[in-house]
Amino acid sequence: MADQQARTGEDSKPTETPAIRWEEPPEGPVLVLLDQTRLPAEEVELVCTDASALVEAIRSLAVRGAPVLGIAGAYGVALAAARGFDVDEAANALAGARPTAVNLGLGVRRARAAHRAEFARSGDEGRAAAAALAAARALHEEDRAASARMAAHGLALLGELLPGGGHRILTHCNTGALVSGGEGTAFAVALAAHRAGELRRLWVDETRPLLQGARLTAYEAARNGMAYTLLTDNAAGSLFASGEVDAVLIGADRIAADGSVANKVGSYPLAVLARYHHVPFIVVAPLTTVDPQTPDGASIEVEQRPGYEVTEITSPQAAVAGAGGGIPVAPLGTQAYNPAFDVTPPELVTAIVTEEGAVSPVTAEALAELCARSRQV
Ligand code: MRU
Repeated sequence: MADQQARTGEDSKPTETPAIRWEEPPEGPVLVLLDQTRLPAEEVELVCTDASALVEAIRSLAVRGAPVLGIAGAYGVALAAARGFDVDEAANALAGARPTAVNLGLGVRRARAAHRAEFARSGDEGRAAAAALAAARALHEEDRAASARMAAHGLALLGELLPGGGHRILTHCNTGALVSGGEGTAFAVALAAHRAGELRRLWVDETRPLLQGARLTAYEAARNGMAYTLLTDNAAGSLFASGEVDAVLIGADRIAADGSVANKVGSYPLAVLARYHHVPFIVVAPLTTVDPQTPDGASIEVEQRPGYEVTEITSPQAAVAGAGGGIPVAPLGTQAYNPAFDVTPPELVTAIVTEEGAVSPVTAEALAELCARSRQV
């Protein structure tokens, strides 16, 4: 039975709460998440004492977004090891919790490998658990550093593509500190532009059906004092047509070897609009999101989510918790098409910005070279 507890009010430290952190109270180690299903209404911490609680939190999107899923997966393995659970079983359950973000499996494998190697060396469960935790902490720190470097590279790229500042940036889904060990991916670039006095407006797509833009990106933009405006996803076309968008910045859940980008559903239509209107379409993601094992966009598994997320208006919390039970907006029994992600082909992507720099134009060769360069560092 998964053991998840919510901490609110006096017990929680909302203003300081990062998306994820490891704690070691006397009762034993726990993984503390900022429950993203409750934002922006409430800042509630979710305390996971075992990997199955974390699997539930991942499935319900209490923790979500590619980079932080990798970090969560690694800590989940460390938690299972520290609490004396079957580490292989936990690793398999965690890696299979959501299929599209490549970071999740990567984080799980990294902590699992560290555990296995230490156990093979010392035969000591405690040391093996400590090695898994060290691997999770290292990944967390690397992601924080990667986020800062992506922000710097992204800001420089915006300066090259759009000289003169005053950028009006459109973004989709949520890519800020909630998804990262640092300040995020695409959002971190917009934030860097804001701090440099170069952001005129952040256009925030609401991101149907689970409203990551309205609930989470607007929350992060407001907390950072950014000038932002929320729009329904289908208002983006008229915004482009009236010349109000200078660049699109999005994150990614998986980038295939050929440069195809899987990201929140609705990203591909933005890429088509951007191309038609001659606006740069920029993807910002750490190299951990690039998956050389996935050759092309067609090979990316896209998560399909329940139809009631579309056929009902429900509180995000109820919807993501799998409860349904909202207000129906379609006749009873209506079938819904509800992919969580879509895939944008590389030819529609102006640039992919990573912590090692940007690739533009996006080609398999350029991406492979960037990945090889990072392995040499
Ligand atoms: O279903 P979600 O909310 O996990 O989808 C997240 C996204 O699509 C993000 O844009 C992506 O993970 C990049 S986060 C840096």
